Amino acid sequence: MDWVVKFARSSIGAKAVVALTGAGLVGFVVAHLLGNLQLFAGPEQFNNYAHGLKSLGPLLWAARLGLLGMFVLHIGMAIRLQSMNKAARPVSYQSKKAQASTLASRSMLLGGVTLLLFVLFHLAHYTLGVVDPQFLEYKTAEGWHDAYKMTVIGFQSAPVAGLYIAAMAGLAMHLGHGVSSMFQTLGLNHPRYRPLIRGIGPALAALIFLGFVSIPIAVQLGIISLQGGA
Ligand code: HEM
Repeated sequence: MDWVVKFARSSIGAKAVVALTGAGLVGFVVAHLLGNLQLFAGPEQFNNYAHGLKSLGPLLWAARLGLLGMFVLHIGMAIRLQSMNKAARPVSYQSKKAQASTLASRSMLLGGVTLLLFVLFHLAHYTLGVVDPQFLEYKTAEGWHDAYKMTVIGFQSAPVAGLYIAAMAGLAMHLGHGVSSMFQTLGLNHPRYRPLIRGIGPALAALIFLGFVSIPIAVQLGIISLQGGA
């Protein structure tokens, strides 16, 4: 057990934890996106999917706890890594290359903080119904929670749709750099595949951004409406 603590306290260990938890969180984001895209298939399909998730019971709670654990470890270790880097470099960088790397890590921090604020708002908005308590009262004919109606009514507000789109830009910024550096940390950086690894972060970030923003945009344009999906 001692080596686990020692490893997690080292800068390499902290980097590995950030990379592994980052991979888990990307997995969640992709699964969540695929689930959300079912809004385009209409209320029946989306509510069946949402009800299926809720019916998982203890398994759902285990997944939520795992997600929370990954989130806390990811943020905690990323902050620790930043302060370790600062402590190891009392004199500021002089070269342009080094300035570019601080810019990347600053944008990681900015994107990360934007994301954290977004997730807190998002949970208050849809999961806890703080923004509009009526959201949790919507029911389908079967008596299930009408997650379709809640999501559509939520995005019919232009400021809310705009806020989600801005937050997705923060997510894309974070993933664009984060996914590529995750591969490097995990040692998957053979020179032959370097261009591919450098490109994979921005490409995945762009796909995830387009997927997520398509939902508030489709609601604002009336493509997804209370009558049904596209
Ligand atoms: C257009 C974008 C998005 C839509 C339409 C959306 C929709 C939803 C909905 C409907 C729920 C379930 C609320 C409930 O019935 O309990 C939910 C939960 C959640 N979403 Fe999103 N979401 C979006 C983007 C995101 C992003 C980008 C993240 C993370 C980076 C995220 C993280 C979460 C989390 C952590 C939960 C709670 C999961 C749980 O309670 O088990 N969402 N989202």
